[in-house]
Amino acid sequence: MSFELLKPQVETIISNSTKTKNERLQAICQLLESNIDYYNWVGFYFVNGDKQELILGPYVGEPTDHTVIPFGKGICGQVAVSNKNFVVPDVKAQDNYIACSLTVKSEIVVPIFVNGKNVGQIDIDSNTLDPFTEKDERFLEFVCEKVSSIL
Ligand code: SME
Repeated sequence: MSFELLKPQVETIISNSTKTKNERLQAICQLLESNIDYYNWVGFYFVNGDKQELILGPYVGEPTDHTVIPFGKGICGQVAVSNKNFVVPDVKAQDNYIACSLTVKSEIVVPIFVNGKNVGQIDIDSNTLDPFTEKDERFLEFVCEKVSSIL
């Protein structure tokens, strides 16, 4: 399904006030993982209060041991510090990378801002090499902006 068709579905999920925040985030993960064939693990990490670490939130895909990630570690930890999207076409080419599954070949992480503060991120792993384009970045920025409205 195209990003343009997914956008209104993201909005519908986010605006459903009968569901909890985490239920809505889980539904976003499900929507993305099941409709974009190269999105094979979709999850959220959030900054843990005043601590310099990220905590795993709702996700869809293989369970991961990496439920806590210190700032600066791995792709996720680097985005917590840089406040910038991080597109990794080939995870094998990265030194500062935390492997969650041997099947993962690429990754994209996009930060979530609330009032200009980096509060978390959406993290997507793919089993395909180099699948992400600027269209993914723009779409995921849209998703993160919608998500920030319920945090
Ligand atoms: N690969 C990530 C760790 C999180 S897993 O992808 C779920 C990283 O290097 O930060």
